[in-house]
Amino acid sequence: MAPDLSVHVRVPGRINLIGDHTDYTGGLVLPTVVDLHTEITGEFTDGDVWRLDSESHGLAVIELDPDRALNVEAHWARYPAGVLSELLRRGIPIRGFTGKVSTNIPIGGGLSSSAALEVATARVVLAHAVSTPTDLTNLELARMCQHAEHIATGVPCGIMDQLSILAGRRGAATLIDCSSFQIDYVDLPDDIAFEHRFIAARQLVGSEYSVRVAQCEEIEAMIGPLRLASLSDVDRIRSEVLRRRARHVVTENDRVRAFADAVSAALPAEAGRLMTESHRSLAEDYETSNTAMDSAVESALSEPGVLGARMTGGGFGGCIVVMKRR
Ligand code: GLA
Repeated sequence: MAPDLSVHVRVPGRINLIGDHTDYTGGLVLPTVVDLHTEITGEFTDGDVWRLDSESHGLAVIELDPDRALNVEAHWARYPAGVLSELLRRGIPIRGFTGKVSTNIPIGGGLSSSAALEVATARVVLAHAVSTPTDLTNLELARMCQHAEHIATGVPCGIMDQLSILAGRRGAATLIDCSSFQIDYVDLPDDIAFEHRFIAARQLVGSEYSVRVAQCEEIEAMIGPLRLASLSDVDRIRSEVLRRRARHVVTENDRVRAFADAVSAALPAEAGRLMTESHRSLAEDYETSNTAMDSAVESALSEPGVLGARMTGGGFGGCIVVMKRR
């Protein structure tokens, strides 16, 4: 009988409950998976290209050559192309493939549609890999997908999106220490909902995301690792702008821990308060929010049953996350 070369993968998006702009300085993040997915369905072939047909963005043909994969014309396909190129460089043999990509994760919505596409691509490859390297842990895969995103977009994103999608579990938030990569799960209570509300599509390419990453490097050159810094270290920074950026990161890391503790101790009102405080810190100190997101947060907070609200993810548009009683 001919081997079954068909494959179907389904990968969720993620929403970050608290801990934004902390991952690229080795801080803490607390995302969870959302009930929105990217799917790839298709068949392996004897060819030497991947033909991926996106429901919304059309057909892309990717060459299975680490140096040429990124020459793909369709812009959306740079993400899978980046992953294929990374896996090939890693020495993993990849067969030809013809398949369809579909998603209900809003593109540019801050729910990691790009990371979901990267992880889905890797999962397709590994579904039929002739030999799967045993050292390909979630962390290794996340690093490869993160690097794929760097080469596909030029944006120096952190590891949160890829790792939270790979390691995420339904009904729990994933507490990731982005320095030691220790992962702890925080069960989410059934009587609380974390709702995402889409505000406006945005791209991190061309946004100030890279500027923030560079500012953090500048800060760390002055006061050492931000993940270990205290507020008195922050006070030593002369530049007013950099002092605010640093204050966000230092206080946000503390809030992640406090939020995880509050959720575990069944103190939802305290957890909600921390979420809203996180939004204010991102808006005022880190300046990654915008007027539309600020008003959406303020208006959510006036609704009955809402305990907290904040922008989520990279910012400059995308989604807010609202914590409310069910
Ligand atoms: C984007 C990046 C992540 C992270 C968030 C902000 O989603 O891809 O690595 O930095 O922004 O927390």
